[in-house]
Amino acid sequence: MNGLQKNFKNIFQLKTMCHQALLKARRTCTSRMKYSTEAKPHKKEGSYRMNRWQFDGYSGLDGLVLANVRIPPLLKPGDILIKVSAASVNPLDTAMISGYGSGMLNIMRMMGNLERGIVDMNHIEFPLTVGRDFAGEVVAIGHGVTDVSIGDEVFGVVSPHCQGSHAEYVITPSSNVARIPEGVSPEDAASLPYAGLTAYSATVVSGMLIPSSAPGKRVLVLGASGGVGTFLCQMLSAWGAEVVGVCSADAMELVMSLGATYALDYRDPVTKEILLGDAGFDLIIDAAGTDDIDYMKALKPWVGASYVTLSPPFLRNADDLGVPGGVLKSLREVVCRNVTTLREGRAYKWAFFMPNPWALKLIATMLKDNKIRAVIDRVFSFEEVPSAYESLLKGHTRGKVIIKVP
Ligand SMILES: NC(=O)c1ccc[n+]([C@@H]2O[C@H](COP(=O)([O-])OP(=O)(O)OC[C@H]3O[C@@H](n4cnc5c(N)ncnc54)[C@H](OP(=O)(O)O)[C@@H]3O)[C@@H](O)[C@H]2O)c1
Repeated sequence: MNGLQKNFKNIFQLKTMCHQALLKARRTCTSRMKYSTEAKPHKKEGSYRMNRWQFDGYSGLDGLVLANVRIPPLLKPGDILIKVSAASVNPLDTAMISGYGSGMLNIMRMMGNLERGIVDMNHIEFPLTVGRDFAGEVVAIGHGVTDVSIGDEVFGVVSPHCQGSHAEYVITPSSNVARIPEGVSPEDAASLPYAGLTAYSATVVSGMLIPSSAPGKRVLVLGASGGVGTFLCQMLSAWGAEVVGVCSADAMELVMSLGATYALDYRDPVTKEILLGDAGFDLIIDAAGTDDIDYMKALKPWVGASYVTLSPPFLRNADDLGVPGGVLKSLREVVCRNVTTLREGRAYKWAFFMPNPWALKLIATMLKDNKIRAVIDRVFSFEEVPSAYESLLKGHTRGKVIIKVP
């Protein structure tokens, strides 16, 4: 046997060993997984199947197809399987279908697959199902899950590198869900987790404003009529902050009804002038996707005030330059901006969506206590998912776009 043949033999043996290890891991996890008797996934043609909307490439809306696939098994301790009743559409979903973030997300997918014992790295990206949040019923729980039970009605999130919720079933760690308060519809519940956790992260983690320090603080919300903006207005005013919302003229009434003290039209040239002249804000959260740093002059100087953007260049730079180059460019950008603005006593920060079990429970409590409500632009049926994506891509939605799943 020559050297080349030996190498082939070794590779073949390694592949067989990995395959056997994977089968063993799957058998162990499946035997630990419990299925509810009442809410069993429907069985078609001898195997558990589901419908889901998926993409086989980054060709935008043109690549969207409805597929009938196997319901994925629970491979990781702590994961749960949810029968989805409703899901929302987020700007990240409509950006991901054209390849946004794929550089960084693929690395996260590879690491996630290894953690689940999946050694086949050929199919980490496609077929891809998007959808970052959902409401539904827990139908199976993995090993070690104690915080939720089969049959619980929950709402929650799926991390951006995982298969999404625009499907009849979705898998997520049990720490990514909370129980839906009684009397709240699945559509209302599904509108809140991703936007709410993003709003919480922008305010508390990046903006460093917590409920006890909020009373008396002045916060400017750019993009106050969107999914994240409508949540921010409600959460911040419930915490006692004074909120000024910037939105389109036709959304001003809505924004005021969500607790903002003032609403201003972003198309009116006087708006920026008024706000910059005010220079009295403790926090500005840019949920408009503009990253307009002119607004930094509206912050109070030298009191620890910050401008927090929800549109950091992190994923975009990683797509353009590769992950190491993109990370370096992004860090350089944020440092350079702060070198200028910190000299004026104002900080420029990024914010990201973050799964957070504590914040998710807080959202559930605020919903139960009527401190926040769902703001829904339109509910689409599962068959109408392409139209739901189209409506978000066209813009000017107020609050959230929802998909009702059968
Ligand atoms: N970093 C993260 O992890 C993360 C997570 C979630 C969201 N985001 C980003 O955060 C932004 C908000 O998300 P979303 O779900 O709320 O999006 P959305 O529902 O599309 O809302 C965006 C809102 O911004 C308004 N808007 C557009 N241009 C504006 C301007 N110049 N001034 C003020 N308002 C303006 C829009 O109003 P009109 O329709 O009237 O123009 C719309 O209501 C998006 O850019 C999204 O990509 C980032």
